[in-house]
Amino acid sequence: MPRKPRAAWIGFALLVLSASACVSSAPSAERGRDLFARDFTPAEGLGPLYNATSCVGCHAAPSVGGTGAHGLATVVRVGKLSGDGAFDPMLGHGGPVARAHSVAELGVNCTLNPGVPAGANLTSVRNAPALYGDGRIDAIPDSVILAGAQSPRPDGIQGRPNLLPDGQVGRFGWKGDTSTLRQFVGEAFRNELGITNPIAPADLVPAGACGGDMGTPEADASIVADVVAYLDNLPAPEPSSADPALFTSLGCDSCHVARLGEVPLYSDLLLHDMGRALDDGVVQGSATGHDWRTAPLWGLGQRARYLHDGRAQSLEAAILAHAGEAEPAVQRFRALSADERAALIAFLGTL
Ligand code: HEC
Ligand code: HEC
Repeated sequence: MPRKPRAAWIGFALLVLSASACVSSAPSAERGRDLFARDFTPAEGLGPLYNATSCVGCHAAPSVGGTGAHGLATVVRVGKLSGDGAFDPMLGHGGPVARAHSVAELGVNCTLNPGVPAGANLTSVRNAPALYGDGRIDAIPDSVILAGAQSPRPDGIQGRPNLLPDGQVGRFGWKGDTSTLRQFVGEAFRNELGITNPIAPADLVPAGACGGDMGTPEADASIVADVVAYLDNLPAPEPSSADPALFTSLGCDSCHVARLGEVPLYSDLLLHDMGRALDDGVVQGSATGHDWRTAPLWGLGQRARYLHDGRAQSLEAAILAHAGEAEPAVQRFRALSADERAALIAFLGTL
């Protein structure tokens, strides 16, 4: 029975303990930085299935906490769509994200198959966003996001909050289905590294398959709290005060609102129907296939790939892929002269 060696596991527990000096101490951004950049091993809880051995494996460019190298680090979300149109994220059967690797590659005896699980008939590529400013997004009150959903917009645009079953307002992830940074970080440790923790306590792979880590979380809550503290401390993008007249006249600001409360993120954090070409069929919270959270545009000048799957290699391509509720804005973009387009792209680069 391939179990994770107990001595090594205790070693990890000690490591976490000694790293935190005292379990009940306040979250430490410094420890969070180390944990974010740390390459975990199976003895430390990695796996049995995982996508990378560290957070920085996908969030590294142009500095720790950013996007993947060259702007691209993708994960495949999976699901099963049944005849009646119901969407199943396949939790416990290899979902909600496919894991590219198994600890078998690292010499641990494990027979679980990495990759897209059998039975999935839907996949959606997702690119890793930069995490700069996520702490400020976390602090925006629900009421501020909800107020945006009420205010009338031109072009028949109607943003909808991703309201979660617990009544909270989603804001993180490309479909905005996660309400707090803490929740996302806890799930990232489980979904991407296979490290279970009090927020995401089960590996969501078939029970008992490789190692007996189903019941007890492999890491304690401090690992999540410290990484959240680290992300809170990452400097947020600071959009310049370039003239937004063109951006506004095209109606881009109907969704990419310059400020939400105090935060200059260029998003309403609401869901919009973006049309057929961007529809991935995946349901997450109240977002359906064609619904996406308005991507925050702050920090755009530091990104090399755009849109949820990283398909766009230029800002023009990203804009031209907008449809659905954004169709009128894109029509106006198409009608711009070459000089005006260049001016808009230059403006976006300053955000
Ligand atoms: C294999 C690549 C990969 C690894 C490793 C990874 N991430 Fe991510 N991260 C992603 C992708 C892809 C998304 C977007 C997911 C989505 O919305 O579908 C994301 C999104 C996020 C977000 C939400 C950002 C936002 O503004 O909406 C946070 C926070 C985050 N990751 C933190 C982490 C932490 C912490 C770790 C380490 C425990 C980690 N990630 C490891 C790929 C990765
Ligand atoms: C109806 C709402 C809406 C309007 C109007 C709109 N956008 Fe967007 N925008 C979105 C959404 C939603 C996304 C994310 C789509 C995805 O990833 O599939 C996005 C993504 C983007 C991105 C890619 C960001 C990234 O990091 O990947 C850019 C650039 C962008 N928009 C610029 C613009 C510009 C410029 C305009 C005006 C011509 C505009 N948008 C109008 C909703 C809108």
